[in-house]
Amino acid sequence: MDNRPENMIRITDSKLAQAFIDEQTAALREQIGDKKVLLALSGGVDSSVVAALLIKAIGKQLVCVHVNHGLLRKGEPEQVIKVFRDEMDANLIYVDATDRFLDKLAGVSDPEKKRKIIGAEFINVFAEEARKLDGIRFLAQGTIWPDILESEGGIKAHHNAGGLPDDLSFELVEPVRILFKDEVRVVGKTLGLPDNMDYRQPFPGPGLGVRCVGAITRDRLEAVRESDAILREEFAKNGLAGKVWQYFTIVPDFRTVGVKDGKRCDEWPVVLRAVNTRDAMTATVENVPFELLSHITDRIVHEVKGVNRVLYDLTPKPTGTIEWE
Ligand code: XMP
Repeated sequence: MDNRPENMIRITDSKLAQAFIDEQTAALREQIGDKKVLLALSGGVDSSVVAALLIKAIGKQLVCVHVNHGLLRKGEPEQVIKVFRDEMDANLIYVDATDRFLDKLAGVSDPEKKRKIIGAEFINVFAEEARKLDGIRFLAQGTIWPDILESEGGIKAHHNAGGLPDDLSFELVEPVRILFKDEVRVVGKTLGLPDNMDYRQPFPGPGLGVRCVGAITRDRLEAVRESDAILREEFAKNGLAGKVWQYFTIVPDFRTVGVKDGKRCDEWPVVLRAVNTRDAMTATVENVPFELLSHITDRIVHEVKGVNRVLYDLTPKPTGTIEWE
């Protein structure tokens, strides 16, 4: 089905989701037959739900490729492997391309250049994996209905939209293309995806790369990843995880003077950001309790290497964007 029927009922519960799943699995089996399907599985909501749907419909005929570009959050690649390979028995290829990405990014401070390098290298890695495989006929994508509405003229069917090179031409499979995001989540829950995957906050494609401001270094990237993990853990413990729209940490590329163990130290600051928004065009700042901010600060300066200061970004959008880049 290419377009969302005008009278389609919003999928809000597991019964409606199950009906969608049954309909889609039958349609997918019909479309795919005994051929193979390739999917870039990022671990984000849309690609994860597409993977779960296809695993149900065609099992091992689906080949998932999870590319770790080294800019994922703490524990993410491990969770993708655990959920899809171990629990759903998926045909999953895991590629740790951390060194390739970080080597290409070394010394690059311009945000747009960083984004371009990450995007291009992602295609390179994915295309290399695709060329190693025989008999792939289809490419699955997590396109959703707002993507179609937003893209002028719509995405052409049966044509790679992912920017793959010409020698890799696949027919597209887009099993959630008529769904809105909230519906994708209900379908994901009904398919048994864990809540922290299904309801996870938005995460940019270039990942922690946009939060390690300036030229990315491995040590500063580690400070972003570890501080982000602490923030997420504390928000989850204190009931903010399901409430705040997006929250993360940023590490700028300068050091300030501090004191640790009675000695002067030149280390990075960590910036905390926690915002609420409807559509990411404007955003307000979450009023995080001061005691919690103090506790998070205490943990970060003691647990994260190379950090001696923590700041909270009080800037709404506008004037600040959500990410720092
Ligand atoms: P800004 O920083 O422009 O961000 O206020 C708005 C929202 O978009 C997310 N974002 C991205 N999402 N790919 C994505 O899928 C990207 O390259 C990207 N860059 C920013 C950002 O996290 C925020 O939610």
